[in-house]
Amino acid sequence: MEKEEDKVKEQEFYTEAAKYWERVPPTVDGMLGGFGFISQIDIKGSTQFLRKFILFQLKDPPSRTFALDCGAGIGRITKNLLLNYFKHVDLVEQNLKFLEVARTCLKSYSTRICNYYPIGLQNFCFATKKYDVVWCQWVLGHLKHDDLIEFLKKCSIGLKSNGVIVIKENVTSSENLEIDTQDSSVTRPLSEIFRIFQESNLICIKEQQQHKFPRGLYPVYMFALRSIGDKL
Ligand SMILES: C[S@@+](CC[C@H](N)C(=O)[O-])C[C@H]1O[C@@H](n2cnc3c(N)ncnc32)[C@H](O)[C@@H]1O
Repeated sequence: MEKEEDKVKEQEFYTEAAKYWERVPPTVDGMLGGFGFISQIDIKGSTQFLRKFILFQLKDPPSRTFALDCGAGIGRITKNLLLNYFKHVDLVEQNLKFLEVARTCLKSYSTRICNYYPIGLQNFCFATKKYDVVWCQWVLGHLKHDDLIEFLKKCSIGLKSNGVIVIKENVTSSENLEIDTQDSSVTRPLSEIFRIFQESNLICIKEQQQHKFPRGLYPVYMFALRSIGDKL
C-alpha cells in the first residue's frame, strides 16, 4: 500500500511543476525554456518523422482524422504540425493561461479543434473518443514513473485501430535518471524509457534522434509506439 508520505511527496512533485509553469510566459520561448529559436528545427524533425515513418510508410498507417496533443502548452505543435496532417485535434494542458493563448492562436482553426482539456496528464481520462495519433512532447518528464505507465496504458486504450503514440522527449546521455528541482521534472535514460514502454505493454516501432539541435542540450529522441498485440 502506498505510504501517506509518498502520496504527499507525489502531490508536491505535481504542485511544484504547476507553480513553475505559472511563472513562465505564454510564448514559444517560454515553452522551450528560452530556446524558442529551435522551434522550426524541432517541427521540421517531427514532420519528417511523422510523414516518413508513420503516415506514409507503415503498411497499416493510422488514419488522419483525430490527433491528441498532450502537454500542449500554447498549441505550438498543434498549429505547426498536427493541423497539417489531421482533420481534428484535441489539446490537454494543465496550465489555464497557456490554454487561453492556445485558443487565441488557434482561433482560425476553431472548427477543427474539438476540445481543450484543462487537466494534468496524471488525471486525464480518455473519453469515448479514440485518436489516430497521440502526440506527447516535452511533458512526460513531469509524470511520476507509475503515473506515466498508467497514462501510457490509457493512451493505448484511447487509440483507434492502427493508431500510434508518438513520444518526443529529452534523454540523459548517462545511464542515470536526472532530477530537475527547478521545474520539478525528471529526465530519463534510454534504458529506463524502454523499460517503461515494456511495462506499459507498448512496442517501439520506430525510434529516431532529433538532429541539428544546439550543443549542450539533452539528446532528444522520437519514438513511435503501438500496443503489444497490435499487428506491426
Ligand atoms: C516544455 S513545455 C512543452 C509544451 C509543448 N509540448 C511544446 O512542445 O511546445 C511543457 C508543458 O507541459 C505542461 N505540463 C507540465 N506538467 C504537466 C502535467 N502534469 N500534465 C499536463 N501538462 C503538463 C506545462 O504546463 C507546459 O505547457
